[in-house]
Amino acid sequence: MPDTLTSSDFVPQTVTPPDKPLPLVRSLLQMIANPLYAWPKAMYENPYHGVKWIGRTFHYFRKPEHMKAVFLDHADIFRKSQFQKKLVGPALGDGLLTAEGEHWRFQRRAASPAFRIDALRALVPAFSSSAAATVERINAMPVGQPVDMMQEMQHATLDVIVETILGGADPSFSYDRMAHIIATYMETMGKPDMLDMFGAPPWLWRPWGAQGRRAAEGLKATAVNAIQRRRDSGKVQLDLLGLLLAARDPETHRGLSDDELRDNVITFIGAGHETTALTLAFSLYLVANSPETQDRLLREVRDVCGDLPIDATMVDELPFHEQVIKEAMRLYPPVSIIDRMASEDIDLGDVQVKKGDFALNLIYVMHRHQTLWEHPERFDPDRFSPDRIKGMHRFQFMPFGAGPRICIGMKFAYMEAIAILATLVRSLRFLPNAAHKVEPNIRITLRPEGGMPLFVERR
Ligand code: HEM
Repeated sequence: MPDTLTSSDFVPQTVTPPDKPLPLVRSLLQMIANPLYAWPKAMYENPYHGVKWIGRTFHYFRKPEHMKAVFLDHADIFRKSQFQKKLVGPALGDGLLTAEGEHWRFQRRAASPAFRIDALRALVPAFSSSAAATVERINAMPVGQPVDMMQEMQHATLDVIVETILGGADPSFSYDRMAHIIATYMETMGKPDMLDMFGAPPWLWRPWGAQGRRAAEGLKATAVNAIQRRRDSGKVQLDLLGLLLAARDPETHRGLSDDELRDNVITFIGAGHETTALTLAFSLYLVANSPETQDRLLREVRDVCGDLPIDATMVDELPFHEQVIKEAMRLYPPVSIIDRMASEDIDLGDVQVKKGDFALNLIYVMHRHQTLWEHPERFDPDRFSPDRIKGMHRFQFMPFGAGPRICIGMKFAYMEAIAILATLVRSLRFLPNAAHKVEPNIRITLRPEGGMPLFVERR
């Protein structure tokens, strides 16, 4: 590929892939500890491989044409797998993220009005004020100590989701309480284990089962309380909970049952805050290490917004912010593997998939694939400039999935991330922390081990 280096030479840290495939047992152990250590270099260079394991094939897809086949052309055949349901099902039940068929379609129709662009534009002030509260929290911290920006961004995005989904502050959704429940869930039930690798059913006893179940029950009880409080208040609000309460199926006129409401409240909290927090935390790490990028962001936000709180019109005029966020999601896609299972045999031309096979769609690997990106290891937000995106395959950048099950919160997430990044960069300067090694680890999402401690100065 031609060497047309543009804005940045910075090579962000990540896990170094092994030179050769690991022996089977070590590979399985690494898949549990952190799959990034199990995927050899060759996977970033060649387009596909399949592994036979206990009677079925695991197809490791990382080329855009395969992604198109799985997520768009044959979306009806490649269904959500039991594995995904095992990891998130105990907490999210049968909400929008996990449901299938007509049950999914009904919930998607019910939730869609809340994600139309005019509804989202009204939320931008909530995004900006949660970022302003972050700036205040950081300014009150002792000077000269690193600040864990992962924790700060989780706090900011949880505030946003409680404000916009549940229509305002709710004591049971306090950051400390929710962060504890969610972290416990991720470290127990939200983690694949050796029994899963051998195809053991989810009901089989696991040492950490009780702790994980308690965390899932804690989430459910919190959601049920929030719904009950809204009903008792008699208020009609046009936030997502209000829309879900009012939703009726156009054909059957059925509304969402209490269990469906509960599962969706948890789904929107779960799917909606952690992913955006990760995007922002990794963006800030990249920005801290690329002073030139940070200056460009600062110039853009000052030119467009001056000192005013950021609103929806301003968000539209911050294209370089969007480029930085996209490049952060290319390098560190919050959802790094999206798995599916084939419900029928299907011929993809170069790959034959049998009913019951797994499709492991490796977004992280595709986003760093040698044949798709120029210097994939480098941080270069200009690869998403209007000129350069023209040469891209539609399916080579997929942080939000694709096809009918594409993330319903995609626009929400872009607007939120832009408003928060701009507010932070305008008030604070982010500096690298040489003492901290950035090591992403795939849990349900791609999380930085040990958080994201960065040095932060007031501007
Ligand atoms: C940077 C932030 C985000 C990323 C990277 C992200 C990523 C994704 C991905 C990859 C999927 C598809 C999963 C699959 O096909 O199996 C998805 C689905 C979903 N996301 Fe997001 N998401 C983000 C933000 C949000 C936000 C802000 C919300 C809600 C407020 C949200 C709600 C959902 C829901 C409900 C689904 C299921 C949609 C369906 O199946 O119909 N996400 N997300």
